[in-house]
Amino acid sequence: MNILITGVAGFIGSNLADVLSLQSKYQIIGIDNFDGNYCRKIKEQNIRGLLSKSNFKFVEADVCSEKSMEDIFSDNSIDTVIHLAAKVGVRPSMEAPLEYIETNVKGTAVILEAMRRNNVSKMIFASSSSIYGANTKVPFSESDSTENIISVYAATKLAAEQLNKLYHDVYGFSIINLRFFTVYGERQRPDLAIHKFFSDIMNGKSITIYGAGDTSRDYTYVGDIVSGISSAIEYINKNDNVFEITNLGNNKPVNILELVKKIELITGVQANILYKPLPSGDVIKTYADISKAKMLLSYFPKVNIDEGLTHFYKSYIQNKAN
Ligand SMILES: NC(=O)c1ccc[n+]([C@@H]2O[C@H](COP(=O)([O-])OP(=O)(O)OC[C@H]3O[C@@H](n4cnc5c(N)ncnc54)[C@H](O)[C@@H]3O)[C@@H](O)[C@H]2O)c1
Repeated sequence: MNILITGVAGFIGSNLADVLSLQSKYQIIGIDNFDGNYCRKIKEQNIRGLLSKSNFKFVEADVCSEKSMEDIFSDNSIDTVIHLAAKVGVRPSMEAPLEYIETNVKGTAVILEAMRRNNVSKMIFASSSSIYGANTKVPFSESDSTENIISVYAATKLAAEQLNKLYHDVYGFSIINLRFFTVYGERQRPDLAIHKFFSDIMNGKSITIYGAGDTSRDYTYVGDIVSGISSAIEYINKNDNVFEITNLGNNKPVNILELVKKIELITGVQANILYKPLPSGDVIKTYADISKAKMLLSYFPKVNIDEGLTHFYKSYIQNKAN
C-alpha cells in the first residue's frame, strides 16, 4: 500500500513514518517544505533515520504548489493520504492569519484536487481540539458545537474539515478527520509548553504561564496518536464510503501547575514562574471524549502523563548529548 504523508519531517509525521516504515506492506512517500516555524535542522534530524529505508522516499515540496502536488500524485500510485502538513500553533495564527489560511485551507484544497484528478480517494486529516473553542461542556465530543472557535488556527482546521466533507459528499472520497488533543513526546515541537518548560527549567530560565494557573490540557502521548492514525489507515482501507470525525485524546486533562510540578520532580529543578494574561485564541480547558475512537478504531491510549514526560525527558537529554 502506498501512503503519502504530508508534513513528514515534523513532530507527529516523523514519529508516524518511523512506525509505518517498520511494516513492509507500506511504501511511504513523505513530503515537507521545512517551513520556518522551527529550525530546519531539527526536521532534517527527525527524518534522517528514515532516509536509508527502502520503503521510504522523501520529496521536498510545498502542499500549496499545484504543480508539485500534481507531480507527486501522477508519479506515485498513492492509495491513502495522511495530511499532516500545516502552519501550527494557536497564538501565532492570530499574528499571521493569511499564512495560516494559505497553508491550512488552500494547501488542503490543493491536495484534494490533486487526489481527485489522479483518482485517489482516501484521506486521513490532522484536525485539532481547538475546533471546540470556548465550549464549556466537557468532555468534548464529536457531536458538540463548532460554532465557538476563538483562533484563526481553529478556523482553518474547521474549514479544512468542511472541504473534506464536501469531497466526501460530492466525489465519494473516504475521509477521517482526526481531532488531536495537545500531543507531546519524543521530538515534540520546541514551541509547545512541555518542551519549552523542560528546556527553560533546565537552563535556569523563568517559565511563563498564561492565565491564573487554572488552564488544563488533555495531553496525549505521540505514540498513542500514532496508534490511532495507524488504526484509521486500516479502517479506511477496509470500509467503503467512509466519513468520520474522531477525537484522539487521552481523556485525562492535567492542570498547568500540576504539569510544572511533575516536570520539577523529573528534572530535580524548581521552576521560577512568571504569570501573563491568557492571550486571545487560548482556551481554558481541553478534554476529549474518546468513546467514539475506542469503538471505531480500538483506540485505547496507553501512556500516562508521568510515563510520557519521562520518555520526553530521556530523549531531550539524549539529543542534547549528541
Ligand atoms: N502537536 C499537536 O499538539 C497537534 C494538535 C492538534 C493538531 N495537530 C496537527 O497535527 C499536524 C502535525 O503537527 P505537528 O505538531 O507534528 O507540527 P510540525 O510543525 O512539527 O509538523 C508539521 C510539518 O508540516 C510542514 N509543513 C508546513 N507547511 C507546509 C507546506 N506548505 N508544505 C509542506 N509541508 C509543510 C512543516 O515543515 C512541518 O514539518 C498539523 O496539521 C497540526 O495542526 C497537532
